[in-house]
Amino acid sequence: MGLNLILLGPPGAGKGTQAKKLVEKYGIPQVSTGDILREAVKTGTPLGVEAKSYMNRGALVPDEVVIGIVKERLKRDDCTNGYVLDGFPRTISQADALFSYLNECGCPINSVIDIRVSKEYLVKRLSGRRVCRSCGSGYHIEFSPSKGTGRCDNCGGELFQRDDDREDVVTKRLETYEAQTSPLVDYYEKSGLLKTVNGVGDVEVIFNDICKIIDGR
Ligand code: AP5
Repeated sequence: MGLNLILLGPPGAGKGTQAKKLVEKYGIPQVSTGDILREAVKTGTPLGVEAKSYMNRGALVPDEVVIGIVKERLKRDDCTNGYVLDGFPRTISQADALFSYLNECGCPINSVIDIRVSKEYLVKRLSGRRVCRSCGSGYHIEFSPSKGTGRCDNCGGELFQRDDDREDVVTKRLETYEAQTSPLVDYYEKSGLLKTVNGVGDVEVIFNDICKIIDGR
């Protein structure tokens, strides 16, 4: 049976950071709706044009758009042995749609891992985040800086700040999380799938806690 995981947590909790490590260790792909949408914005597709207006004000892209994207993505061959969902679901409607879809395929979610980080850390993490324009590697100006000035350690690409990591948008994203996504914690608790990890501290320690949950499944 495949390893089908959901990483939950507010913006800046470390979902992307941990998802990349899970990809390496378990050989399953990271399915990040944020990454898919950002790629569409970058290439200027109709999806990207629509998504940009929501993303740049810290709002969620409409459910039907995102649900369609995820269903298509999960059909691809690389998801046969599982996947890490990062940033999806983000509303109860998205979670319901995912549940129905996976029920039809007979491949349910194994674990939902909620990475808990309090708000005081989140703003600092998001405002200091830098991302490589070429390979997408993530950095933080204070917590995990690149060795070269403004360049990616892996590929030498330019590091940039995401448009939605500006302070005014960050505040809005955190409000959106509280209003629309945090109810999923209860949702998955009731279904018995929810596991929580403390997302404050060393990245490796947090990763180890996540792996213990996965390996003990
Ligand atoms: P998305 O890209 O999903 O953003 P997010 O959920 O806001 O998550 P982030 O990527 O900001 O944070 P993260 O938890 O991955 O943290 P990271 O590991 O990078 O979504 C962006 C937008 O797209 C949304 O606002 C919405 O508009 C749209 N969208 C996406 N999905 C959608 C959906 N399903 N429905 C509707 N709309 C959707 O870490 C952050 C920083 O902290 C980094 O600098 C990192 O180096 C650092 N860090 C990580 N771990 C630690 C640690 N342990 N200690 C210190 N620093 C750390």
